[in-house]
Amino acid sequence: MKRVTIDALQTMKGTGELITVLTAYDFPTARLLDEAGIDVLLVGDSVGNVVLGYENTLPVTMEVMLHHTAAVARGVSRSLVVADMPFMSYQVDASEALRNAGRLVQEARAQAVKLEGGEPVLKAIHRVVEAGIPVMGHLGYTPQSVNQLGSRVVQGRTRKEALALVESAQQLEEAGCFSIVLECVPAQLAAQITESVGIPTIGIGAGAQCDGQVLVLHDILGMTGDFKPKFVKRYADIGNAVRQAVEDYAREVRSGAFPNGMHSFALPEEVAADLARKEELPRIRRV
Ligand code: KIV
Repeated sequence: MKRVTIDALQTMKGTGELITVLTAYDFPTARLLDEAGIDVLLVGDSVGNVVLGYENTLPVTMEVMLHHTAAVARGVSRSLVVADMPFMSYQVDASEALRNAGRLVQEARAQAVKLEGGEPVLKAIHRVVEAGIPVMGHLGYTPQSVNQLGSRVVQGRTRKEALALVESAQQLEEAGCFSIVLECVPAQLAAQITESVGIPTIGIGAGAQCDGQVLVLHDILGMTGDFKPKFVKRYADIGNAVRQAVEDYAREVRSGAFPNGMHSFALPEEVAADLARKEELPRIRRV
């Protein structure tokens, strides 16, 4: 099966074929998403809050991202694997950004990296792209800036903010990004940004006019309890299916209904008969 490439995503923008992106954090789900034909698997730093139980993405380290990205990369044969650069892995300076992006590609087999922000990270993007590592940008609500943004999730609602976002998107394209995630941006603004750049935009809470869509896998599978942002659509209720299956298992273990003969191994008849004659059993020597 042909791997999805950066060029293929660019072609999709040209032809209007919409790009599918989902988060993945481990081998079995990566394999399922790959088999289902998802174009891009994003090993998001959302692994921190979605899988590791942190309050937000800030505690996620390079080691965590390397561990999860490598597992995802082992599970795919077609999808493009993009790894998030975690908080403080690219903000200090461009050389450190390049070193860390290089680790995600070399040690964990990511094919591209994603980092958050506009003007302040342009130097880092340049440096990483120059080294031959494709970079996905991320504008709008940027979760690594949660302490600055606070609870105001939707970005670009004022004229000034909207124009600044359009400008940032163009700067990211000029810096060499191959695509841009637009998170929690009003739909009309996301449509204008999508028109104003030549690279694909991938929306999350950014309306239908982006070149593709990304969501967090656990959100669409109903595995995040009551947490359901407005932009998420639930396609399954796996959380309740898991709870039900585990309750069934526990009930059957407690009642003795599991395991039965179908789940057990049998001895050959003559060995079973020998063992049944008690004198054949080795004595335990006591000291
Ligand atoms: O970390 C993540 O999952 C993301 C997506 C929400 C775009 O950055």
